[in-house]
Amino acid sequence: MKTKYYALFRQCSAVFTDLAMIMDNPLVNLKHRRILLGITGGIAAYKAAELTRRFQDHGADVRVIMTRSATEFITPLTMQALSKHPVHLDLLNPDTESVMGHIELARWADLILIAPASANFLARFASGHGDDLLTTVCLAAECPVAIAPAMNQAMWAKTVTQTNRNTLLARGAHILGPDEGLQACGEIGAGRLMAVDDLILRSSELFSTGTLQGKTVVITAGPTREAIDPVRFISNHSSGKQGYALAEAASNAGAEVILVSGPTHLDVPERVHRIDVISAIDMHDAVQNVIDRADIFIGVAAVADYRPKLAANQKIKKDQNGHQSLLLEFVENPDIIKAVATRPNRPFTVGFAAETQRLETYARQKLVDKQLDMVVANNVGDTSIGFNADVNAITIVTNHTSQVLPLMSKRALSERLIELIAAQISHQG
Ligand code: C5P
Repeated sequence: MKTKYYALFRQCSAVFTDLAMIMDNPLVNLKHRRILLGITGGIAAYKAAELTRRFQDHGADVRVIMTRSATEFITPLTMQALSKHPVHLDLLNPDTESVMGHIELARWADLILIAPASANFLARFASGHGDDLLTTVCLAAECPVAIAPAMNQAMWAKTVTQTNRNTLLARGAHILGPDEGLQACGEIGAGRLMAVDDLILRSSELFSTGTLQGKTVVITAGPTREAIDPVRFISNHSSGKQGYALAEAASNAGAEVILVSGPTHLDVPERVHRIDVISAIDMHDAVQNVIDRADIFIGVAAVADYRPKLAANQKIKKDQNGHQSLLLEFVENPDIIKAVATRPNRPFTVGFAAETQRLETYARQKLVDKQLDMVVANNVGDTSIGFNADVNAITIVTNHTSQVLPLMSKRALSERLIELIAAQISHQG
């Protein structure tokens, strides 16, 4: 028993060390991020090689688009060797489009960074052109687009370039730089590509400006297993998918996320800290160990309500008692979410309710009984959604509101739910 608690303590202190590391080092935000690097024609194009390597050093996956004039300054072969992927050059090439078309490229990216961005690129993107691969991908993008201009200081200072810059800024593009200093042409002024170190840092910061920035979220997910003997247990069909999707969405919204997870086959989402547990009691203890840090608690786990009163030390033999039936006595498990919701200074607490009928009524009852701030009800009577499925449809109930989110992927649903929780928290001040 002592060993078990020591292991749990070690897991929890490892989480705090990791969280401290994240707060000190925003570059960890780049891990496993997909960066689409657009290179346009300018002397600073050679710096795209170093930029690619530095992104990779921080764990990002980089793919490259080059304009035709960029290939006059640095070869696609160099960028292919560094990025370890073919460089994308053409819009209307059937071969490359069939491998990864311009829309797929835009969807693939978590961030599009154009570095260096020429005056010509700024003008064409600002005026909505889509006549080459790079402008088309930028037009199709739904992820953030960052632009690092680099050009002669007089070109940068021209009213038309500044107007284009301001237009792009007003449309939501992130403009990084340019820096001031000695230029390749020998002139001095603003127009140098932002230093590679700063480009890396600013790009990483773009991933952490979400609605839950600075918040810590604790989420329980998956089933619990309640031991009958060393080889048998009682559990349920929860896959953990909804809890893991929420953990990912909360992390993408800038939160530090601690995921207390029962046994699942899922990979831990990037930047999420998972504490593995087996039984309801383990889950309760793990939550209690970290809950002081939480601004938000989301109980998604399908926690077993009861456990066998005594788990046998040895495997129960079929004919042990000479009886043809086996009686197990159950005792109630702790209610993890209620224990959180009834704490003084409790976090914003969200529960899930798996129901087969009268979703809103039962959800509202749970809101009151467990003293929650929000209850998310889903219909587990329909086996094509909810448990184990990739899609879900939910009803969200708070003290004063009720909202239905129709059938959608657990990922999309999680993003919507995280935004709703963030809105509630900012509303509460
Ligand atoms: O009471 P019921 O199981 O219907 O409530 C479901 C909600 O309560 C979920 O959010 C679930 O994670 C949480 N729960 C818990 N501890 C329990 C039972 C349920 O945290 N022992």
